[in-house]
Amino acid sequence: IPQGTDLRAEIDRLRKERNAVILGHYYQSPEIQDLSDFVGDSLELSRKAAETDADVIAFCGVRFMAETAKILSPQKIVVLPDMDAGCSLEDSCPPAQFKAFREAHPDHIALSYINCSAEVKALSDIIVTSSSAEKILAQIPKEQKIIFGPDKHLGGYLKRKLGRDMLLWPGVCIVHEAFSETELLKLKVQHPGAPVAAHPECPPYIVDHADYVGSTSGILDFAKTMPGDTLIVATEPHIIHQMEKAVPHKNFIGAPGADGNCNCNICPYMALNTMEKLYLSLRDLQPRIEMDETLRLQAKKSLDRMLEMAS
Ligand code: 13P
Ligand code: SF4
Repeated sequence: IPQGTDLRAEIDRLRKERNAVILGHYYQSPEIQDLSDFVGDSLELSRKAAETDADVIAFCGVRFMAETAKILSPQKIVVLPDMDAGCSLEDSCPPAQFKAFREAHPDHIALSYINCSAEVKALSDIIVTSSSAEKILAQIPKEQKIIFGPDKHLGGYLKRKLGRDMLLWPGVCIVHEAFSETELLKLKVQHPGAPVAAHPECPPYIVDHADYVGSTSGILDFAKTMPGDTLIVATEPHIIHQMEKAVPHKNFIGAPGADGNCNCNICPYMALNTMEKLYLSLRDLQPRIEMDETLRLQAKKSLDRMLEMAS
């Protein structure tokens, strides 16, 4: 890239030239969020990917999200600025082991968090996101036995909240796992009365201190509507950018890790996407998500069920 290139202007030019839509997750850098055509949580981004009439989707998020876009919009070119943008939850659930787990429990259906590979989606009956999981679970008959993977914390939260017994896959998100209960309690003492909003990927010892638990979009809505003017935010701290834009007079504090600050809770996978790589992905239409058609169709079944049941 020539020195002095105005990346923002070049991305705008290429987006028009390619008839591309830029979809961004709340955990992306503020500059990427600000130039995205749409910023949302995993469910909203999946819906946008399914309904867009653009020729190209530039997905500023992680690989499982871009794969989901490709599964739902196969005729579109889907680029991911950095193909190494993975997810610890996906890594924790290798398809062969998940298949063996399923086969060991033939009387269970598999409900899987969207943070998994296309192969695991293909082995699952229904996909859920953090914003749709409760609604979807409520539609499954009580007597139906369920395997839930790969996030044991989201699964555990759903079990406790809805009183459902589910067999949990032992995966975790390394970002939400890094919050410290001791540091959170110190922060609560410093800000008496400030509510805590937490993502359900957090361990129970963090969720138990939360006044609101929900997806990134849910947490953002809570920030806008909550009484009071200070909120402690127990999820990836880049979402605070949207809160500060929406309600600039309020004070948002990222929940800390063991070192007392929230920098250790920046998602290292999301951070791989940069303005430079986004520009190059639109210029070269690479790196591109490609998928075997049999796998895509199999994975689409469980994603379609999510879209139906969440609507
Ligand atoms: P949501 O945006 O659906 O809440 O998901 C959060 C997340 O961790 C995505 O990787
Ligand atoms: Fe995966 Fe956690 Fe990063 Fe989300 S925040 S992409 S769940 S590692």
